[in-house]
Amino acid sequence: MGGNFIGTQTVIHFSLFVVLLLSFFPPITESSNQFCEAGTSYGYPDCGISSSSQWSSPSKILIKGGTVVNAHHQEIADVYVEDGIIVAVKPNLKVGSNVTVLDATGKFVMPGGIDPHAHLAMEFMGSRSIDDFFSGQSAALAGGTTMHIDFVIPTNGSLSAGFEAYVEKAKKSCMDYGFHMAITKWDESVSREMEIMVKEKGINSFKFFLAYKGSFMVNDELLLEGLKKCKSLGALAMVHAENGDAVFEGQKRMIELGITGPEGHALSRPPALEGEATARAIRLAGFVNTPLYVVHVMSIDAMEEIAKARKSGQRVTGEAVVSGLVLDDSRLWDPDFTTAAKFVMSPPIRSLGHGKALQGGLSTGVLQLIGTDHCTFNSTQKALGIDDFRKIPNGVNGIEERMHLVWDTMVESGQIPVTDYVRLTSTECARIFNIYPRKGAILVGSDADIIILNPNSSFEISASTHRSRTDTNVYEGRRGKGRVEVTIAGGRIVWENGRLEVAPGSGKYIEMPPFGYIFDGIDKADAKYLSSLRAPVKRFKATS
Ligand code: URP
Ligand code: ZN
Ligand code: ZN
Repeated sequence: MGGNFIGTQTVIHFSLFVVLLLSFFPPITESSNQFCEAGTSYGYPDCGISSSSQWSSPSKILIKGGTVVNAHHQEIADVYVEDGIIVAVKPNLKVGSNVTVLDATGKFVMPGGIDPHAHLAMEFMGSRSIDDFFSGQSAALAGGTTMHIDFVIPTNGSLSAGFEAYVEKAKKSCMDYGFHMAITKWDESVSREMEIMVKEKGINSFKFFLAYKGSFMVNDELLLEGLKKCKSLGALAMVHAENGDAVFEGQKRMIELGITGPEGHALSRPPALEGEATARAIRLAGFVNTPLYVVHVMSIDAMEEIAKARKSGQRVTGEAVVSGLVLDDSRLWDPDFTTAAKFVMSPPIRSLGHGKALQGGLSTGVLQLIGTDHCTFNSTQKALGIDDFRKIPNGVNGIEERMHLVWDTMVESGQIPVTDYVRLTSTECARIFNIYPRKGAILVGSDADIIILNPNSSFEISASTHRSRTDTNVYEGRRGKGRVEVTIAGGRIVWENGRLEVAPGSGKYIEMPPFGYIFDGIDKADAKYLSSLRAPVKRFKATS
């Protein structure tokens, strides 16, 4: 039998930093972590004593006989991992001893999901989102996501202070993560600090909120300054596109009409306000000639603006989120406040029809990637708005469910091929935030962030079994086909046979360099624009 022999040479990969952290934070299995405490609402039926500690074993793994899927190609092959890195992808690999072998026959071997949009431990609307960098990432790993990008919120307008606060929050990470940063005010120091964030701190994207009047919202003047600065730094400008002034007006209108419940949330901020802000942001980004990334596209109205811009050649990226794809707004009218309030997020989950259209946008290339906007608040936190929907902390879960729901909704239904699934859930995120092919690929030299998905297995979602700390789940009771049976993060098996084994402090911060592919050629377009101006015109003063 012919084959390729992989030697046992060790690639030294783990940094001293991680080793030190691990000595402070020992690994946790479900048998010993906080979620397994008997009698808590977060306990699982599958908790038990872990017999083998993968964590302390050498990380040599051979995944045999699966269909290895990248965004550009799929083939039946083996994947060999040593010390956190993929070192071979070929059929019939032969390896040395002391290797953990996983049989993936009949299953798909794919890059771990990358969630471009999550808010762990976020201070928002008088609360802090309940999943922190450990519980949120544990949930992610159990669902096949191996990296997420969070949004640093400046502290009193200071980007550096905000960054430091998030470095602190992220110390308990058990999977790799990166940061975007929000820009909530404008002055010389913000402009300077943006430069520091990009050149020294590994941030290559900034989010501008066009909604949340009175807190995060920025006006057009600030947005323009931000777009110009982003362009000069090679950083991607992101927008939360809703017209915040009009939303404020819509909220007043609902309260005056006596509509104070969660349904008022959707009624106060209709799709037209998302469409307007999306169109405005696109036009301003076009005016500056810098790429734009529209986060959580929730409506046909916003998607059509993106489609129009892309058709005209403008560089606009549209991010769908799983809640927008598979849910509709009907539950906001549920007579039970807790049930209705758990669906409150912004932009709102739309009426039936929008989700299906967004799915179509993904399969035809109008939208490019899928995130979650995971930002969970429990029932007690949501109850802050029991008498006034404006006070319900905005956000839903999804970091654990995204990979399964997208598979079931888009692949199992035949809407997209498996290669597109990989592109939409992982590769495009890595490409746009400039960390490909280290992330988002099963290639020699890529990080060993890998999932094995069994298309013949099934899943069921429930708050009683999920890993998130929240006590509700917007996908409660959903079942579907396709189950992530194994998650490998950083070369370690962290999820197998329904058991999670994770270590706080083991996740690495992934720096994201500026001037990703989306900036290629921007300078040429600038030059073309300048040469098209036919100005200044030489004029002669009239002599009389
Ligand atoms: O409702 C949401 N989306 N909460 C998180 C904050 C944001 O706007 O992304
Ligand atoms: Zn947002
Ligand atoms: Zn968000």
